[in-house]
Amino acid sequence: MKLFISEGNPHCLKVLAALEEAGVQCDVQFVNHEENLVPFLSRPSLPALLLPNGQHLFSPNAICRYMFEVSGQECSEACDQWLEWEATDLQPALLQALHMAVLQGKELEATKVLAGPLSYLDQSLTKANTPYLTGDVVSVADLVVCAALHPILSAPSLASGDHKSVRLWFDRVAASQSCVSASHKVLQGKGLQAMKSFMQRQPAPQSGQSRGGTHPCNSGPAEDEERERAVSEEEMEAAALTWNKGFNASAAATERLHPILPQEGKRNILLTSALPYVNNVPHLGNIIGCVLSADVFSRYSRLRGWNSLFVCGTDEYGTATENKAREEGLTPQQICDKYHAIHASIYEWFQIDFDFFGRTTTEKQTEIAQNIFWRLHENGFLLEDVVEQLRCEQCQRFLADRFVEGICPHCNYPDARGDQCDKCGRLINAVELKAPHCKVCRQTPVIRSSKHLFLDLPKLEGQLEQWLNKSTSSGDWTANAKQITRSWLRDGLKPRCITRDLRWGTPVPHPDFQEKVFYVWFDAPIGYVSITANYTDKWEQWWKNPGQVEMYNFMAKDNVPFHSVVFPCSLLGAQDNYTLVNHLIATEYLNYEDTKFSKSRGIGVFGDMAKDTGIPSDVWRFYLLYVRPEGQDSAFSWADMALKNNSELLNNLGNFINRAGMFVSKFFDGCVPAMELLQEDKKLLALVGWELQQYIQLMDKVKIRDALKHILNISRHGNQYIQVNEPWKKIKGGDAERQRAGTVTGVSINVACLLSVMLLPYMPAMSQIIRDQLNAPYSCVSAMLHGSGAFTRVLDPGHRIGTVSPLFQKLEVEQIEALKKRFGGQQTATQNAANPQSAATLPTPAIEVNAGADPEKARQLTQAVAEQGEKVRALKAQKADKATIMAEVSKLLELKKQLALAEGTSPEPTPVKGKKK
Ligand code: 2FM
Ligand code: ZN
Repeated sequence: MKLFISEGNPHCLKVLAALEEAGVQCDVQFVNHEENLVPFLSRPSLPALLLPNGQHLFSPNAICRYMFEVSGQECSEACDQWLEWEATDLQPALLQALHMAVLQGKELEATKVLAGPLSYLDQSLTKANTPYLTGDVVSVADLVVCAALHPILSAPSLASGDHKSVRLWFDRVAASQSCVSASHKVLQGKGLQAMKSFMQRQPAPQSGQSRGGTHPCNSGPAEDEERERAVSEEEMEAAALTWNKGFNASAAATERLHPILPQEGKRNILLTSALPYVNNVPHLGNIIGCVLSADVFSRYSRLRGWNSLFVCGTDEYGTATENKAREEGLTPQQICDKYHAIHASIYEWFQIDFDFFGRTTTEKQTEIAQNIFWRLHENGFLLEDVVEQLRCEQCQRFLADRFVEGICPHCNYPDARGDQCDKCGRLINAVELKAPHCKVCRQTPVIRSSKHLFLDLPKLEGQLEQWLNKSTSSGDWTANAKQITRSWLRDGLKPRCITRDLRWGTPVPHPDFQEKVFYVWFDAPIGYVSITANYTDKWEQWWKNPGQVEMYNFMAKDNVPFHSVVFPCSLLGAQDNYTLVNHLIATEYLNYEDTKFSKSRGIGVFGDMAKDTGIPSDVWRFYLLYVRPEGQDSAFSWADMALKNNSELLNNLGNFINRAGMFVSKFFDGCVPAMELLQEDKKLLALVGWELQQYIQLMDKVKIRDALKHILNISRHGNQYIQVNEPWKKIKGGDAERQRAGTVTGVSINVACLLSVMLLPYMPAMSQIIRDQLNAPYSCVSAMLHGSGAFTRVLDPGHRIGTVSPLFQKLEVEQIEALKKRFGGQQTATQNAANPQSAATLPTPAIEVNAGADPEKARQLTQAVAEQGEKVRALKAQKADKATIMAEVSKLLELKKQLALAEGTSPEPTPVKGKKK
């Protein structure tokens, strides 16, 4: 093995430290920055590790990991997560910080850039309370992160005192022999200055590359400084060449013809978004988590010329629907019809362009679910077992776990639910609850035994793992999806009950299990298949065709195990060559301001309310995608939405496109002028081309939020280009100057055209408006995203554009304040102020207000219950004496009772999004 490194290269510090720590035999050779040692890379990349088999490793973290493995130290899952964090979150910020500190002498700003990642690190260390990142011994994660931060944290001018845990940990790791020696060799005791020549060779960090501050969703290009990326002569010439080629009309996307079916020789993509529960109105977090994300990718995949089908529909069966029906005095079917229509109209308003939006309560569902069931039965993947369940004789039904309450068998908390205790957090088996009562009628239920069917997951585990290894390594699975799946498997799979004693569900066809229905989590994913079957009779071409079809599943992270373990096991066990998920895309959670969305507390914007705000659907989409919880939780914030609208959409994007259009109209009679490219123009083409490439690479990997930033970077480059070249002045000059004005205008209008295409997945209506203003046909522009993608001239000299007008409207402070008040759940303002942390997680009785009840009183009582709950919590946290606590608990119970009365209904929870139904 031979390791090639260079002086002053921070990545080399890392690998050298890892090498010394691991104590592996390896030659180390210092080489020049410019040497390209990895033959297939087009640019030099150091460090590089030459392996005994002649192959090279050139990713610094992979090299470090490899060193540890060779020395017999396996990399744990936690370690891998830290390595991933280092590469994707820390590095971009670090690069920016080093650039500022080393080349620009802006040390203060450099520290600010790192504040976000450092706080994260600090919190994690404090929380874990271990000397090292992953436990009690130094791991590869410690070395990698410590070495990465080394130049910054050991510079006296930069070391900030804010992060105490980081400081302690850093001092510990950096003092190790391996770190000291590596830093001595690579930095030669010169500190940051040793890196000057290395940093000068790096492209300036792109704005928006770093996630920056602690509120990741709020960091964005607008807040970063404008920085120039170095562009080489070759890049400029290549960009000009591509531009001159013009576009290839034959590659343009064709009309969609239904039914869409897989085609030979095409990339065939089956896209699903998690089927939303029919019994409630989705909030913004639900919308961004699945349907909106999938819609963006579906639109993008069409722009890329892929053959894709996007299906979704409402998830209609289960206890929650039965309860909602009782609450509203309707039949379950009526509830489904009513809410299916509500969902459909919300998604229509948000421009979610499903190819088909179906539902799970159909004959096809029964047919296909029962077929899969019989196949599992025939193939020996079902088990029988007797289960003890609580049954309420008064209500004449078995009680789903969430509909029974009692005293927690572990901690004696009086309000534990049948599935979990909110106080001690432990999972509960409903029959173990002490003094259980039915949540609907308060009667004591009885224990009944009943025979159920279980999917034999242990028997399928081997097959599942084999498939998972392939799917996760060849497809794009988000980090959370992989991690959640791994942890399910690590704990070993257990048989899962797939039947329920309910009425509202797909009937179990087995004669021994009459009166039972399938458990919703067995049934719901089969909805994807049956919905496709309701769309086309040829559904098997999508669903029994893994060789030709790639499947993408979009969802929020709580849905992951059902899509990565349970559903795939059902399909594998059926042994009918089903298409299984190739790419599993899971979002984290979106919060509302600093709390959670809560229907009962009136907090947050729900799908049906967005249109009443007067803010266009496109702007909603833009902002939700801008703060998409991609990789980490994020928050919707009104103030931030206004800021992003006014800065990014109005001042940046809209301003650029409008100026380009106005120049064509005003100075050139509405016709694109002749263009004669100079270096300056070619440089812009190269910059734009680079951003386009980043956009494509990110979108191909479904990094929807990250890709959006590159659209905004393009208009930022465009604005700067116009500003520097001043066509409005040059148009008044002599011939040469007028020609310059023409070139700048012509190039700009083409950039605007490209922007309209890149925007299409995010803001479809706006994309159309821009294309109308430019009079640019869809066919010519969409071609820019085909194949490897290229920025070419599509609006030639002489092309007549349409009528130009402003694209965006300012969101005024008063307007935003009013909206914030309206949706902000003002009733909790005092409670939030008193205890912001627990306010966010406070479990409140989630009660839908019935017609005929007293909604105002109910609202007040909801608040009172919340506050009282809070009080009880606080007392318990302070370990107050038992009598005091019990007195407050009985007040709480009394309030709950009153609340139930004010509702005009018995207390029942709104279905909480989660695994159980
Ligand atoms: O969490 C939810 O909203 C579920 N209704 C998702 C079901 S996804 C699929 F399995 F149908
Ligand atoms: Zn009951």
